[in-house]
Amino acid sequence: MCGIVGGVAERSITNILIEGLKRLEYRGYDSAGVALVDQCQILRERRVGKVANLEQAVNESNIQGSLGIAHTRWATHGKPTENNAHPHISDTVAVVHNGIIENYQELKDDLEALGYVFTSQTDTEVVAHLIHDALKSTPDLLKAVTQIVPQLKGAYALGIVHTDHPNELIAVREGSPLVIGVGIGENFISSDQLALLPVTNRFIYLEEGDIVRLTRESIEIFVDDQLIDRPVKELDATVSNASKGEYKHYMLKEIYEQPEAIQQTISQALNGNALRDDFLQHAEVDFKNIQQVQIIACGTSYHAGMIAKYWFEQLIDLPCQVEIASEFRYRSPVIVGNTLYVCISQSGETADTLAALRDTQKRAKAKSLNITTMTICNVATSSMVRETNHHLLTLAGPEIGVASTKAFTTQLAALMLLILKIGQIKQTMPVEKIAEITAELWHIPKVILDTLQNDKEILRLSDLFKEKQHCLFLGRGTQFPIALEGALKLKEISYIHAEGYAAGELKHGPLALVDHDMPVVILAPQDDMLDKLKSNMEEVQARGGELFVFADENSGIKNKDRQHVVNVPTISSLLAPIVYSIPVQLLSYHVAVLRGTDVDQPRNLAKSVTVE
Ligand code: M6R
Repeated sequence: MCGIVGGVAERSITNILIEGLKRLEYRGYDSAGVALVDQCQILRERRVGKVANLEQAVNESNIQGSLGIAHTRWATHGKPTENNAHPHISDTVAVVHNGIIENYQELKDDLEALGYVFTSQTDTEVVAHLIHDALKSTPDLLKAVTQIVPQLKGAYALGIVHTDHPNELIAVREGSPLVIGVGIGENFISSDQLALLPVTNRFIYLEEGDIVRLTRESIEIFVDDQLIDRPVKELDATVSNASKGEYKHYMLKEIYEQPEAIQQTISQALNGNALRDDFLQHAEVDFKNIQQVQIIACGTSYHAGMIAKYWFEQLIDLPCQVEIASEFRYRSPVIVGNTLYVCISQSGETADTLAALRDTQKRAKAKSLNITTMTICNVATSSMVRETNHHLLTLAGPEIGVASTKAFTTQLAALMLLILKIGQIKQTMPVEKIAEITAELWHIPKVILDTLQNDKEILRLSDLFKEKQHCLFLGRGTQFPIALEGALKLKEISYIHAEGYAAGELKHGPLALVDHDMPVVILAPQDDMLDKLKSNMEEVQARGGELFVFADENSGIKNKDRQHVVNVPTISSLLAPIVYSIPVQLLSYHVAVLRGTDVDQPRNLAKSVTVE
């Protein structure tokens, strides 16, 4: 989704803004722009396409300035054109915006009646004109912004500069993330701290409703016109752990980081083959009382939740429902007391998941129900982490590729840790079982390393996919969500139409699609369902389908005509979904590379979906 970078400094910040935009490229965008204030003038460049196009334009025009705002746009209102790219200007005011102004049309009508002429189709341009209009009655930029903010409906983060205020950057957070980067004699804003890592590792995370005035020397944060304090946090991330290193793509690097990421995630909770005493200690009282679990998530995180449902019910006999956040939030769900509501999210900022959480909290409060909320998240400073009672971090490190990989497998590891903890507290899982599963968890990084050895073989098979238009993924039990995840991965980065199915559903419809041209990917760990899965494979083969099977090395499934088998090291069926994620990720990656798509920033997609 859109990305914002801005700053006020002594030195020229042109390059800092462009570098910041590059570091936001992973979020997904279709155009980019920058506006600098220099000698009472706004100098602006905007380009459709990559930040590299903008950089070239900026180099050619050599615009410089020590106050400025920059933006990557992911089109919502109006096509990706230069006119629609941000920053938007109203004479002396320039604005960048992340989010959606829902009532922009009525505001636009009013502004047009006042004589304002619109040069874009965006919702954002109204903000620039509103501020310009408000400045007719006050010379104070902060006051003007504060005055117009109540008129805006929707979710937004804003960065604002003005030609007459060369040492002032105004920022607003209302529903879209925004962070302040605290420098020495210079200060910055961004929608993601990653953009600012080259200039600072000290951040202030804004809260909903914050309006900020930044100068070179000061940071003032206002809530309801009152000056307030927000803590400065020092971040442990470095520029290097957010870079590609020797890998061709972030996605490949992140696939290979999974053994380490899982090791980190489980290390925070385990001490040998037992749970650490301090692991989720503050949640113990709440966990004791819960009678059921409701998971809310989107996309890949939703698939992690689907697997957790099997685990919660099978391992600790706790009823668990899983729902896509965009459905949950709009269907008036019955909120039930003594329920643990778990948001799963890599970013912790996904608009639908966050809205579903807030709505749940509101409904529970209205009915005086006792619920517990929890986030499983990769970003410690995210809104979801801040707004839930408890959180469990996936320690995957920054995930830059739009296609989620290490975030997913660490979510699974974290969910298993949560289940062990609840099982221990509620005494529904014996100590021996906890020891058995923790021993298996410690073993997972090694099994993933061994599975990654299949990379070349999967690359070879990927070649057979590159001309295909469609693909099916089949699995049973906890491999059904992996089939969904494999299909999601393939479609989002290779643009091949793919569907995931529970293999038992084959005869109920999808079998009609199977012919000579339809590759069918099978997930076949060594579990109770293997024989049934083998029958499904026969059914596909009998109709001329070509099978690509990721199978346990002892499954007895062998290569034969139109049946390609990649052996996966033996792993307990319980944790097999973590390991079987790896081959489907590698398959999607290689197919996408062979098809020449933009693997890390696939078309139309954004890393963090902060608008509906
Ligand atoms: O940050 P979140 O985990 O909340 O994001 C949810 C989805 O947008 C995300 O998983 C998306 O489906 C990925 N691009 C899938 O690879």
